[in-house]
Amino acid sequence: MTFVPVTGAYPFARPRRLRQNGWIRDLVQEHTLLASDLIWPIFVHDRDIARDPIGSLKGIDRLSISETVKEAKAARDLGIKALALFPHIDERKRFSDGRAALDRQGIIPLACRAIKAAVPDIGLIVDVALDPYTDHGHDGLLINDKIDNDATIDALIEQAAVQYEAGADIIAPSDMMDGRIGAIRQALEARGHKDALIMSYAAKFASAFYGPYRDAIGVKALKGDKKTYQMNSANTDEALREVALDIQEGADMVMVKPGLPYLDIVWRVADTFKVPTFAYQVSGEYAMIKAASDQGLLDHERAVLESLTAFKRAGASGILTYFAKDVAEKLNK
Ligand code: PBG
Repeated sequence: MTFVPVTGAYPFARPRRLRQNGWIRDLVQEHTLLASDLIWPIFVHDRDIARDPIGSLKGIDRLSISETVKEAKAARDLGIKALALFPHIDERKRFSDGRAALDRQGIIPLACRAIKAAVPDIGLIVDVALDPYTDHGHDGLLINDKIDNDATIDALIEQAAVQYEAGADIIAPSDMMDGRIGAIRQALEARGHKDALIMSYAAKFASAFYGPYRDAIGVKALKGDKKTYQMNSANTDEALREVALDIQEGADMVMVKPGLPYLDIVWRVADTFKVPTFAYQVSGEYAMIKAASDQGLLDHERAVLESLTAFKRAGASGILTYFAKDVAEKLNK
């Protein structure tokens, strides 16, 4: 616990003195949101059109590779330090084994190469999980109707290596299989990739707030749910155990996901482990703020800034948010 000094009783203590006008409020402000705190998730598609609006994420499009490169430049110029890339691939390329995830000419490896060639100074975070590539929408391999942990890991190792070798900087396993951080770390080391950063989706909860994302990557009908691998939203101590394991297995950074409904987890993880801790303001959180402000129920700009500053207050080192570009533009003004 932090020590809170008590300076005296009313009227000697009047906390409102520190709030009486803008300059003093600014002077005593404890946390500040910066463009460099923001990670921008982008959906890249393999279709022949520059931008394809995502129905459930108003204001967000799936982008072609050349459009992604343009946005990467814009993001870099705004002071955003990293992008997180997610694929949307043709339905005909989705099989139950998710084999397209291992394709060196797949949309994410191609996007990584193109971005690194044009904008080498922005960090690239790539997801490691099979859901955008499977016809059943699960992150792992379904064997006898069950997600097979160890068989999945073999695929994830390959997916991680393919993406790293295409120029990705940060490998971000979002699949929640047991032992995958250690296995991926070992495989990367064995291939000489000593600098590969791993940001583990360490505490990822089975959440209703991922709905719009599944539309964005084109998961039509998820078979069942993800509760045998993603965490029960009622648990906290389990999140700490997951994070401890991932750090032990070689993660450089960890993530908590979703964001605002799990700020207590962000706080406990950051406070307990003192490793870079990221939070993901997920698609459903974006959609909620968007929908409420479109209906005139919320002031959009204030709601967005307040929600993002809350992550900083909770101890996050950075935030993945679909608002990243808009917010960076505002912060630069
Ligand atoms: C799955 C993955 C998910 C998200 C990122 N990676 C969703 C899921 O687990 O179904 C969600 C991101 C969002 O909702 O914005 N590999």
